[in-house]
Amino acid sequence: MAPSEEIRKAVLAQAQGSMALQLAFIGVTNGLFAALEKGDATAAELAARLQLDAGYLTRWLQAAYAFGLLDASGDRFRLAEAGRAFLPNEPDTLMPMAVQAMLGAHLSERAALLMRTGERPGESVLAERETILPWFGPMLEATFGPIFERELLPAVPLLDEIGRRGGLALDLGCGNGWYLRRLLARHPKLRGVGLDGIEENVRQATERARRDGLADRLSFFVGDIYAHAPVEPAALVVMNRALHHVWDRREQVFRLLRDALQPGGAAVIWEPAWPDELSRLREPRARGLAVQNLSEHVQGNHLLRPAEIEAAFAEAGMPASSFLVGGGFEAIVVGRRPS
Ligand SMILES: C[S@@+](CC[C@H](N)C(=O)[O-])C[C@H]1O[C@@H](n2cnc3c(N)ncnc32)[C@H](O)[C@@H]1O
Repeated sequence: MAPSEEIRKAVLAQAQGSMALQLAFIGVTNGLFAALEKGDATAAELAARLQLDAGYLTRWLQAAYAFGLLDASGDRFRLAEAGRAFLPNEPDTLMPMAVQAMLGAHLSERAALLMRTGERPGESVLAERETILPWFGPMLEATFGPIFERELLPAVPLLDEIGRRGGLALDLGCGNGWYLRRLLARHPKLRGVGLDGIEENVRQATERARRDGLADRLSFFVGDIYAHAPVEPAALVVMNRALHHVWDRREQVFRLLRDALQPGGAAVIWEPAWPDELSRLREPRARGLAVQNLSEHVQGNHLLRPAEIEAAFAEAGMPASSFLVGGGFEAIVVGRRPS
């Protein structure tokens, strides 16, 4: 039976949405939207300014025009409102959607093949595409930085309390370091150390800390969470979207969390919240989570239920409590090392 008109229309809209995001990805990763923000240009002018190929640029400009990302007069192209929305450094930028669309396509392709053997190659798949890797940190920062400011800080007053007292904050699996940069910018007495397994993330984190004038009390290094050896007891340890990467060895990780903290110190874990009920995956905000869980499977991980994280804290002798932000699909679990 042929698909109904309703289904056909819905799939056409999805196909066009996916094409628009693919074009936006090309624009973001080659600085094309940023260059066009400075004024209209031809393909040849952009090619000279950005050291890119004019043939590819001509086709991209035409395609981005077709999808309304750009406007045009003759062979001159300028940024349209829809293209401006992807400028990476603007507040509430839509850049993450373009990056996620391409990362999702890459990992779906891997899943399509690996499903035949069950192989799960691990974290290395993230680094397989050289255009995607440098955007991984900025994508996470632009998506979750606003939730941190608007929801997390008001909901976890403990973060500002610790910040005001000062001491050391440790971020395990820090990505591009956005969390500690934001926390330390609010609290001059706080010092920070972040570690991550991906060199590009640590390079960006270090550069951004310097840019923000925080380099004297915030440093980052390449390292393995499992091998972390504390040099000084921390007032705060945070892990954002990193725990599910090391969940297989959770006993070791939670012991390490407890040992890294000073008595009375807090561990604040932020994880996507896998729902208890399958039916909740139909909610628009949860659909991305379901796709992420497939991508995580390729990387050897799976998403967690908040209750599992609380139980792991309890097993390590740390009382914990959890709550949800981000429309109910982002879990914050706070555990304390007893005084
Ligand atoms: C989803 S990212 C989150 C990054 C960052 N916390 C944020 O919120 O933007 C997970 C991070 O954990 C890091 N990671 C995973 N396993 C790790 C390990 N064993 N040692 C160090 N870093 C690890 C990855 O390199 C990645 O940057």
